[in-house]
Amino acid sequence: MIDNVRLNENETAVIIIDQTKLPGAEEYLTLGTAEDLYDAVFELKVRGAPAIGICAGFGIYVLAKTIDTEDYEEFAAQFKKYKDYLNSSRPTAVNLSWALNRMESVVEKNRSLPVAQIKALLGKECRAIQEEDRQMCRAISEYGLSLIKDGDGILTHCNAGPLATSEYGTALGPLFLGKERGMEFHVFADETRPLLQGARLTSYELSRAGIDVTLICDNMASLVMKNGWIQACFVGCDRVAANGDAANKIGTSGVAILAKHYGIPFYVLGPSSTIDLSCKTGDDIVIELRSPDEIKKKFYEKPMAPEAVRCYNPAFDVTDHTLISGIVTEKGICRAPYTESLAAMFAR
Ligand code: MRU
Repeated sequence: MIDNVRLNENETAVIIIDQTKLPGAEEYLTLGTAEDLYDAVFELKVRGAPAIGICAGFGIYVLAKTIDTEDYEEFAAQFKKYKDYLNSSRPTAVNLSWALNRMESVVEKNRSLPVAQIKALLGKECRAIQEEDRQMCRAISEYGLSLIKDGDGILTHCNAGPLATSEYGTALGPLFLGKERGMEFHVFADETRPLLQGARLTSYELSRAGIDVTLICDNMASLVMKNGWIQACFVGCDRVAANGDAANKIGTSGVAILAKHYGIPFYVLGPSSTIDLSCKTGDDIVIELRSPDEIKKKFYEKPMAPEAVRCYNPAFDVTDHTLISGIVTEKGICRAPYTESLAAMFAR
């Protein structure tokens, strides 16, 4: 599996695989400053909800180590500045603020300890975040695999595999696990306009693992469903509200509407770190808006739209809970009514 996010040897920087260079090149970046870390998340060099949480956890640890003071108040104030800055890099995936809040609570809970010891505890915490994500992805993969059978056709959107998480991934996890157990699936990967996570990342991850994958343009999903080639849709998520509304890559809600039309089960797979019970419904989820150039110019040799044309480029949409057949988490599969099932599984 790809080592997508890690600390360098002396824990002074975060090393990521640059996802914007895939599949053409496997290049690694060393992120040692707050600006490097912000840029890597904003530019999607590291992306996928759990991966940006893990990167932020490692990142704030690296930055905390550079705070040169023994005074707790001074340390905590500078820590918060770094935290707020990293947290502002992308708004939709809750894993980013979840990981940063978790790191901050280490600082707050241990205020009576010397700063050096707090820094050591932060190191422990960020490693735990990654290890727990690995275990959650593995459990999600098991539950997800119980929903499908050998030979099934699975449609996925965007990328929710190892690059976006730890080890197995979420939406792609059951497919990797099934492959290990000798099962074969036929995966249809939406290319995922405008940033092509499906084309560049999902088809790369699946094909290098020997999993049968067919790349389609987003507007072909309806046809492959109509053809009877899809037995289930598996997608990841960036934030799940208390009522089960799930934000994920733009285009996901369209897939869910099509799946309902064709009577195909549509599953959202994600760890508890992506569930945000403080959002009552999807209306409370902030949707990131990105540059028009991603639609007009990116990946084209020359601009493919009039320079001045107005563009609307939301990076995510919210799939209504009524379209979701199940939310697959590391603790089990939640079914409707989600307000009850999610609360029963995740409310403290
Ligand atoms: O803009 P991206 O590429 O970060 O969007 C990612 C997604 O929408 C993924 O499906 C989601 O983060 C789940 S990753 C397990």
